[in-house]
Amino acid sequence: MPTPPILISPSVLDSDLSRLASEVERIASADLVHLDIMDNHFVPNLTFGLPVVESLLEHTSMRADVHLMIEDPDTWAPAYAEAGAASVTFHAEASRAPVKLARELRAKGARAAVALRPATAVEPFLDLLPELDMVLVMTVEPGFGGQSFIDGVLPKIERTRAAIDALGADIWIQVDGGVSRATVGRAARAGANVFVAGSAVYRAEDPAAEIVALRDLATASWAE
Ligand code: DX5
Ligand code: ZN
Repeated sequence: MPTPPILISPSVLDSDLSRLASEVERIASADLVHLDIMDNHFVPNLTFGLPVVESLLEHTSMRADVHLMIEDPDTWAPAYAEAGAASVTFHAEASRAPVKLARELRAKGARAAVALRPATAVEPFLDLLPELDMVLVMTVEPGFGGQSFIDGVLPKIERTRAAIDALGADIWIQVDGGVSRATVGRAARAGANVFVAGSAVYRAEDPAAEIVALRDLATASWAE
């Protein structure tokens, strides 16, 4: 299988949210900007929602990678695609009709992705792969930035990549949580190709340079 694109999608969760548009300018070397939407129900934390995403998209040309950690994505996710998000990820544990939702997102011009919490197996969702553009394998329990990468999910990434390869499909695997210079290589070797990094990027002295370093490390690990 050809190597999928190696992409870095920094999460703004750890940035200064009062000046979101200029915080996105600080990550100009990124491929996407990761926007964590939390509703204080699906996860015990609350961030921002559709009006903030709509406003941000008027002020940036960076493609938005929306990660919905919300209880009712079937109702709310399509509006993020309509707002112009390049990719919309909803949680497998939350959606009542994932195929219908994925098709709706694609029809509205977004890439459709399903996210799996660390304890959620990928196997029940493998038959849905043709409906998806990406699988997000969470490498922390969703809700907060700055947590430690869970190595126990690496075999799930490997099994997901094997299933995608067996299909011969061009489907991305994203990892989110605890991704840093120390862990990005392990995730890439397991088969991930889209890397979310929040604290590692925004707490770095030079966020744009950190992104380049993470991409280089991931690319080198894919080549191994
Ligand atoms: C966690 C969020 C992540 C988070 C990543 O629930 O989905 O996107 O911001 O932050 P770090 O990279 O600090 O683990
Ligand atoms: Zn996220």
